Amino acid sequence: MKVAVLGFGTVGVGVYEMLKNAPGLEAGPVLVRPGKEDADFKVSSMEAILADPSVGAVAEVMGGIEPANTYVSMALGAGRHVVTSNKALVAAHGIELAKLAREKGVSFLFSAACGGGVPFLHNLAIAAQSDRILALGGILNGTTNFMLDAMQSEGKDYGDVLRQAQALGYAEADPTADVSGLDALRKIMLACAVAYDKLPVDGFCLEGIESITAGDVAHFQSRGLTCRLVTSGGEAGESVCAYVEPVLFRASAPECSVLKNFNMAKYLGENAGSIVLMGQGAGRFPTASAVVRDLCGLGTLEMLRPACRKVTADNSACVHAYYVRTDAANAARFSFTESACADSVVRGVTEPMSVPAMHALAEEIRKEGGALFFAAMG
Ligand code: HSE
Repeated sequence: MKVAVLGFGTVGVGVYEMLKNAPGLEAGPVLVRPGKEDADFKVSSMEAILADPSVGAVAEVMGGIEPANTYVSMALGAGRHVVTSNKALVAAHGIELAKLAREKGVSFLFSAACGGGVPFLHNLAIAAQSDRILALGGILNGTTNFMLDAMQSEGKDYGDVLRQAQALGYAEADPTADVSGLDALRKIMLACAVAYDKLPVDGFCLEGIESITAGDVAHFQSRGLTCRLVTSGGEAGESVCAYVEPVLFRASAPECSVLKNFNMAKYLGENAGSIVLMGQGAGRFPTASAVVRDLCGLGTLEMLRPACRKVTADNSACVHAYYVRTDAANAARFSFTESACADSVVRGVTEPMSVPAMHALAEEIRKEGGALFFAAMG
């Protein structure tokens, strides 16, 4: 089957290269911006791609919501299978696109949108048909994992490691989505939709790693703790829970061995028990491999089923003790079980508190101009 590729950035180049050697698949035209058609296989017209009856599938790896949504709708509407790595697109329009795909009798798959090369959504889609998924999530952002690992193992500062992650092609076009946790949040939205037929669209709790300092990392290290950005989801009555926040792990935790751009995706099946998948969560060929894997599975898998609907996330039953670093003036707002103050900065561990309560308090302190970093105790 001939596959057209939309976009020729980090992932697009990888997909195009892999298609040259993928059994049963053939590299088709590549859609680029007008004026960028500097080779025979590059075109700038989506209409021209769809006018070619030998193109059976489209791999959308351009990112962003528009024009990706228009092009994917056009491809599905024209009866072409679509595989995408675009988590923002699936989070915003996935339900409608999956419906269109069903109407046209084609597949709409997006394994590459969550976990890079790690076959998380693929396995989740299969597992959800036969088992009850009690919880899911893990380390789902390669950029922040690379950054936290480099800050800890090499003592580098935040700006240096972010630039390095961008240069290696791990970060999104706008890396704010990575460091703010939004990229990881979009991934848990998709995972919940696949596992629970519920796509959470609001009600989230989101905390990234923008507030972490080299001093925090050194402090954790001296206490045998490792910080990771963790994404959590699970059943919550009629809804689902879905939140992202830094977590501190003791040395024996498997999360501490997730290094560089690796991801650790997990789910807990009522019957299967705990399933853990680890691999490179970002980068050209790991992500391209997930796109090509979906292309090899066209017609055999459905990721967003007809029952999938939008819900408001409910994190109220999720409770953790939190490590907090804040100005001494704000310390009394926390119920600490232990704390220490040095140079007007307090570092302490709270009593268990709900995830929404911690996130709301942090927002309030920052709005008032206070400084703060927090992480759940893993
Ligand atoms: N920017 C993403 C990450 C790419 O770092 O995980 C893969 O989704």
